[in-house]
Amino acid sequence: MPAASASFRFRSPGEPSETEVVVGAGAFADLGRRLPGIAQGRWFVVSSRPVFRRHGAALVAGAAGSGLDPDPLLVPDGEKAKSWEVLGRLLQTLVSRGLKRDGGVIALGGGTVGDVGGLAASLALRGVALVQAPTTLLAASDSALGGKTAVDLTTGKNLAGTFHQPRLILVDTKTLATLPGRAYRSGLAEVVKSAFLDRVFHKRLETLTHDLEEREPGAVSEAVYRSLRLKARVVASDPGERRGRRVFLNLGHTVGHALETASGHRLTHGEAVAWGLLAALVLSEQRVGLRPSRARDMAHQVAFLCRPPRLDASTRYWPAFLSHDKKSDRMGLVGVLLSAPGRPVAVRMEAAELEAALLEAQKRYNGRITWR
Ligand SMILES: NC(=O)c1ccc[n+]([C@@H]2O[C@H](COP(=O)([O-])OP(=O)(O)OC[C@H]3O[C@@H](n4cnc5c(N)ncnc54)[C@H](O)[C@@H]3O)[C@@H](O)[C@H]2O)c1
Ligand SMILES: [Zn+2]
Repeated sequence: MPAASASFRFRSPGEPSETEVVVGAGAFADLGRRLPGIAQGRWFVVSSRPVFRRHGAALVAGAAGSGLDPDPLLVPDGEKAKSWEVLGRLLQTLVSRGLKRDGGVIALGGGTVGDVGGLAASLALRGVALVQAPTTLLAASDSALGGKTAVDLTTGKNLAGTFHQPRLILVDTKTLATLPGRAYRSGLAEVVKSAFLDRVFHKRLETLTHDLEEREPGAVSEAVYRSLRLKARVVASDPGERRGRRVFLNLGHTVGHALETASGHRLTHGEAVAWGLLAALVLSEQRVGLRPSRARDMAHQVAFLCRPPRLDASTRYWPAFLSHDKKSDRMGLVGVLLSAPGRPVAVRMEAAELEAALLEAQKRYNGRITWR
């Protein structure tokens, strides 16, 4: 990877345009060069106050010189942004402030801003151009790519949404420097998940782990870039999530989602996924022949992300939440295991096996994990 910024393009089958992905420290400076090639009308930056305060100036400055200075539009911070009401207000404001078909939306923030900003871009005037400018590690390594947009309904998270592919994903890894430690480490769980799904990336992870813990800028950029490239390959082969390949990205998430919900979100998404990855490694050994020595090495790459070191009483009833997983159907749960790094297999599994696997993972790793 070049030191400054690295980029690649991909196109999902059936999509009229390509998505360009640019990752690097200072990448926002590239925005002005790229916007006019996407849309020449009015642009808006959808963000939340805390994110815009930290990183809005760099983004807007990056667009200077293009003649397309984007206007900021703020939504509530965090999950509160993902409501029908916020979406409605956002659409109203975009249109009344002059968004036209030749304009666009830049979503600057974490996965919440990306989801609601993306949905607004897909609905406004039947769809305008979208740029994702993710500022959390979770969004940068995962949610900004793939085209999924969403708001929540009272019955559950992400129940109303569309697929709307961004034209540009611009990751300025400098923005990740201001993330609180816990949010950063939660995002690392998605990075480790991606590395487990890609043989070459997994090999690199063995070298990068320490630098990633220390947030060394080159290591962070490389890990984000590799995560996005892996996801792009999977998404391009299964854009609408119909062919089953995209399910591989769910590695660690069957257990993870259930734990996250059972804990009442006291475990972050990434912390819960880290535990889910450990359970998946145990089960991979038992069901699809992952070598035990390999499983142990991989577990060490993820175990430091599990927090708290002991899963506590709040998560005791987590298996009850398994059946609510979107990836389950009437036949049972579908989970993802690994026969080797980079070799995922989708298998049907019973809640009881998952429960036993997590208990085994806890027995092996609870209390032996140092949490910094
Ligand atoms: N579309 C998808 O494919 C997809 C995939 C996974 C998750 N998601 C969604 O993503 C959301 C979670 O995203 P998230 O974890 O990024 O949460 P988030 O967007 O709520 O951000 C978390 C917090 O981090 C702060 N923050 C953001 N950038 C920062 C920075 N650079 N420095 C300091 N603070 C910063 C925000 O102000 C916010 O309070 C969920 O709603 C989930 O459903 C979507
Ligand atoms: Zn996830």
